[in-house]
Amino acid sequence: MSVVLLISGRGSNMQAILDAGIPVAAVLSNRADAAGLALAARRGVPTGVVEHRAYETREAFDAALAAQIDRHAPRLVALAGFLRVLTPRFVARYAGRLMNIHPSLLPEFPGLDTHARALAAGAKRHGCTVHFVTAQLDHGPIIAQAAVPVLPGDTADALAARVLEQEHRLYPQAIRWFLDGQLVIEGDRVRVKELHAPPTPSDRA
Ligand code: GRF
Repeated sequence: MSVVLLISGRGSNMQAILDAGIPVAAVLSNRADAAGLALAARRGVPTGVVEHRAYETREAFDAALAAQIDRHAPRLVALAGFLRVLTPRFVARYAGRLMNIHPSLLPEFPGLDTHARALAAGAKRHGCTVHFVTAQLDHGPIIAQAAVPVLPGDTADALAARVLEQEHRLYPQAIRWFLDGQLVIEGDRVRVKELHAPPTPSDRA
């Protein structure tokens, strides 16, 4: 029933997931100085560090990370501000049970600096996306999105804060759906099964 969270920094999404009562088996980071690690430890959640700089190749790092993850035999691996590009091999190992949250309305603005880029593009709305991870960065079947308005005079920081509030609501919800067996990947799309709905033929397959 449990989840392993991967973080690289402050861990506010991690905190929202813990606050929501999601069963978290461990929080792992590629950086020993990730602020979220101390926070997780204070809450009694096991933590671990797999320092990416200690490995010569992405493949070696990913293999070490996978070994740490698999000790907890999680149902789901959730990236929560994890700032490393993962190898196709790692992604394949956790296919269908590797999730990410990205601070834009994908497929708009994959990559970094999404808030500044949304402002520069004159976007009138922005937001966040929870998606399953595939080998292509910030792509993969979309599970859920939340949009916020871009307001006159917004700075990247102000916009980021507005989006973050939605991230903290959306990510625990998406993880809960996963753990409750409500997410069905159908090709490039994700269907959210309504609880108590009559089963469709593909549910039975
Ligand atoms: C969030 O904006 C998340 O969408 C992105 O990285 C940031 C992580 O923030 N992937 P936090 O560490 O969860 O506070």
